[in-house]
Amino acid sequence: MLKTYRIAVIPGDGIGPEVTREAVRVLETAAELDGRFAFEFTEYPWGCEYYLKSGEMMPEDGLDLLSGSDAILLGAVGYPGVPDHISLRGLLLKIRKGFDQYVNLRPVRLLKGAPCPIKDVSPEDVDMVFVRENSEGEYSGQGAWLYPGTPQEVVIQDGVFSRKGCERVIRYAYELARREKKTLTSISKANALNYSMVFWDQIFAEVGREYPDVETHSLLVDAASMFMVKDPKRFQVVVTSNLFGDILTDLGAAIAGGMGLAAGANLDPERRFPSMFEPIHGSAPDIAGRGLADPLAAIWSAGQLLDHLGYPEWYKRIVDTIERMLSEKRSLTRDLGGTASTEECGSAFAELLRAGME
Ligand code: NAD
Ligand code: IPM
Ligand code: MN
Repeated sequence: MLKTYRIAVIPGDGIGPEVTREAVRVLETAAELDGRFAFEFTEYPWGCEYYLKSGEMMPEDGLDLLSGSDAILLGAVGYPGVPDHISLRGLLLKIRKGFDQYVNLRPVRLLKGAPCPIKDVSPEDVDMVFVRENSEGEYSGQGAWLYPGTPQEVVIQDGVFSRKGCERVIRYAYELARREKKTLTSISKANALNYSMVFWDQIFAEVGREYPDVETHSLLVDAASMFMVKDPKRFQVVVTSNLFGDILTDLGAAIAGGMGLAAGANLDPERRFPSMFEPIHGSAPDIAGRGLADPLAAIWSAGQLLDHLGYPEWYKRIVDTIERMLSEKRSLTRDLGGTASTEECGSAFAELLRAGME
C-alpha cells in the first residue's frame, strides 16, 4: 500500500530556497523509484522577507500549522537587514524548542573524493557523528540587560542545564554508540564552567553506569578542537552541549569537505512532534541568488529525513550517490572545485540515483 507523507517545506532565506528545491527533487525521485511511499509537500514562505512585510518571522499559529506534518525540510534562516537574533529566535530556534527536537544529529564523515584540508588523512579517519543537545544549555535565551546605555550596564546570558535535558541527550548518544558498537566521547568544559559542565560530566558518568559495554572518553572542548584536526579518528559518537556542538560541527564540516556537504537532523526521538531536517550551513548571503550554492548538504539531510521515516536503505543510497558524485567529479559546484550550478548538481544527482536503481 502506498504511504503518503506530509512534508512541510520552509525554504527560508538566501541560498535556502536554492538548495531546498534540489532536496525536494531528490525526495520526489526517491518516492518515484521506490513505489512504496509518496510525498505531499506544503511550502511555507517564512523568513526575513516575510518578517519585513509582516513584522514576524512566521505567523503566530506557525507551530500549529507545522504540527500535522510527518517531517519538516528547512533551507536556511537569516539575512542582512534583519538582526540575526530576531530572525533565528523567531523561526529556526522556535521550531527546535517548540517541537522539543532535543537531539541535533550531525554526521561528520569524509566521503571518498571530498576535499580535506588535513594532510595524511583518509576517509576512514574522519567518520563521526555528533549528538548535539538542541533544546537548552547555552541557547536557553534567558538573561537580562540591565541599565542599558549607562556606565553600569550589565548583560547576563544564562545557560540552563536541566537533569532531564542532559540525561535524555546523553542517553540517546549511549544508545547510538551501543547499537553501532562505537566509542562515545563527551565534550565539555568543567574546568571553567563550574556549574553547568560539572553537572554535564556528572550525568555523563551516571548514565554511563548503565552502559558498561560502551567505551567512553571525556574531553575538554579546547583540546577536543585540537584533536579533531590533529587526530580525527579518535572520535566516533560524540555528545556535547548546544553551543559546543554548533561550533565543533562547523569545524567538522571544514575537515569533511566543507559547508556544502554538512547535514543535520533536529530530532524529537519520542516522535511527539515532527522532526526537522536542514543543512548545517546558513543562508550564505555572499553567494545567494546566483546558482552557486552546493545542494549536497541539503540532499544529505533529505537522506536523514528518509531514514527517520523508516527507510535507512534510502539514506545509504543517497550518501553513496553523493560519494559517487565526488569521486567521479560529476557536476560539482564551485566549492568542490567544479563549475556546475546548484540546479545542474541537483539534476545530475537525481539522474545518478535513478541510474543506480536500474
Ligand atoms: P554560512 O554558513 O551561511 O556561510 C559561511 C560560508 O560558507 C560562506 O562563505 C558561504 O558562501 C559558504 N557556504 C555556506 N553554505 C554553502 C553551500 N551550500 N555551498 C557553497 N558555499 C556555502 O554562515 P554565515 O555567513 O555565518 O551566516 C549567514 C547567515 O545565515 C546569518 O544570518 C546566520 O545567522 C545564518 N545561519 C543560519 C543557519 C540556519 O538556518 N541553520 C545556520 C548558520 C547560519
Ligand atoms: C546552526 C546555526 C544555528 C545554531 C544558528 C543560526 C542559530 O548556526 O544550525 O548550526 O547556532 O544552532
Ligand atoms: Mn552553526
